[in-house]
Amino acid sequence: MKHVIEELEKRRANARLGGGQHRIDAQHKRGKLTARERIELLMDDNSFEEFDMYVEHRCTDFGMEKTKIPGDGVVTGWGTINGRVVYIFAKDFTVFGGSLSETHAKKMTKIQDMALKNRAPIIGLFDAGGARIQEGVDALGGYGEVFLRNVLASGVIPQISVIMGPCAGGDVYSPAMTDFIFMVKDTSYMFVTGPDVVKTVTNETVTAEELGGARVHTTKSSIADKAYENDVEALLQMRRLMDFLPANNLDGVPVLPTHDSADRTEVSLDTLVPDNPNKPYDIKELINKMVDEGDFFEIQEAYAKNIVVGFARMEGHTVGIVANQPMVLAGVLDSDASRKAARFVRFCDCFDIPIVTLVDVPGFLPGTAQEYGGLIKHGAKLLFAYSEATVPKVTIITRKAYGGAYDVMSSKHIRGDVNYAWPSAEIAVMGAKGAAEIIYRSELGDPEKIKARSDEYQSRFANPFVAAERGYIDEVILPRTTRQRVCRALNMLRNKTVENPWKKHDNIPL
Ligand code: HXC
Repeated sequence: MKHVIEELEKRRANARLGGGQHRIDAQHKRGKLTARERIELLMDDNSFEEFDMYVEHRCTDFGMEKTKIPGDGVVTGWGTINGRVVYIFAKDFTVFGGSLSETHAKKMTKIQDMALKNRAPIIGLFDAGGARIQEGVDALGGYGEVFLRNVLASGVIPQISVIMGPCAGGDVYSPAMTDFIFMVKDTSYMFVTGPDVVKTVTNETVTAEELGGARVHTTKSSIADKAYENDVEALLQMRRLMDFLPANNLDGVPVLPTHDSADRTEVSLDTLVPDNPNKPYDIKELINKMVDEGDFFEIQEAYAKNIVVGFARMEGHTVGIVANQPMVLAGVLDSDASRKAARFVRFCDCFDIPIVTLVDVPGFLPGTAQEYGGLIKHGAKLLFAYSEATVPKVTIITRKAYGGAYDVMSSKHIRGDVNYAWPSAEIAVMGAKGAAEIIYRSELGDPEKIKARSDEYQSRFANPFVAAERGYIDEVILPRTTRQRVCRALNMLRNKTVENPWKKHDNIPL
């Protein structure tokens, strides 16, 4: 027996060395942790159970039979994060560059299947060179198996991808089908084809960082939801994120203890909205003062900043926040903001996370760039997402709610459950000046007349009461009481049950 135990220990130690000490050293030299070090940081102490650490590839082409490394480039298993079960796979760059072989893919799909069967989230840590080039179609087939499982699990269990090194070729499409992608600054990049292929095909010269670094994907392409300074920060923030997410689509949101009273009032909110309707203010101040302990996990912070989305808690229960940001482009809805918010609203609806919407929106952004770029279809995504959502929806209009954007931003008409307005709310088809210039076009030559018409429109519609008289607004509330009101509304809606008509699936304008 002693001999067998020694053999086991030897095999384990060998597998844990991955591609060997010199490759581990090289990984560290680049500022990256190894797959197992990452898992250790992400999971609760001693909670990780590794599967398949002795699995080796079966390729016999290109002399591969002579180089077999246990684990085959991916570390898989399960553990807990703050006591809750999470499945994980972490690409091991020290083994064949983390590249995906047939057996490597089988290790991944085993974990994907377990996560789905047991209805717990799955996190993938990426640091790899794509398909194992020596394996050809077996690698491609393996990717297909992984992709299929990403799709089947979508909307059932949260799937999170963290890019912590190269992520190229076949490796990009699995993250792309997960719920969120996070990156590490300077050490990670994602692209379908790398700089060399780009040069050959399009004659463009770009670096890996310029083509698919964290900056590009968090600010330009919107592929990534956030970037972190280093591996440690990324992994600790993933632990924080997991605390907001339910285990699956039927489990309900996690509830964490909070010391923040639901009755807390914030007098300073009474003066948040400036007297001048064209002056901006920071909607994040309202978010921070409204949610439990000011704890807000923002998603896509660096992209389409005219809308703010992210997770927070009210009375310990997770909520999704969607808020127009008057500080950026006056909070207008453009294509990017619409797509960003639509995806977030759909995530919340999948996983039964109530949505709190803060509205200050002057409308949709006019112009050829927007129209040519498909604003109609992108705006429709957000309208569609809010309309189909059956989770509790609480809406607060702080100032402007103009035009189609009023309808879109979780209005009563698309099944907003509780719709409040601050006394500073202005709910109208458009701003007063624009309205006067259209209705009284014949008086355009007389600025004084137009000014008077504009003032008349302003005093008629620049308030929440026309909408409140019709029941489109449930109550006009004091800004200082916003947290109380939202907490009460969410409590009242805790057992909300609404079902959409049966369908195979909808046909959201993609
Ligand atoms: C086999 C690979 C590999 C791969 C890297 N390695 N990528 N082995 N298949 N795809 C091996 C290297 O041979 C090397 O082995 C070790 O991993 C480390 O790689 P380096 O090149 O030394 O590291 P680095 O300089 O950091 O460069 C990393 C890299 C580069 C940028 C990822 O390795 C690279 O460009 N790899 C190929 C990327 C690629 O074209 N993949 C195929 C995409 S096609 P040794 O033994 O020397 O340490 C694809 C199609 C699937 O994925 C589509 C499905 C839909």
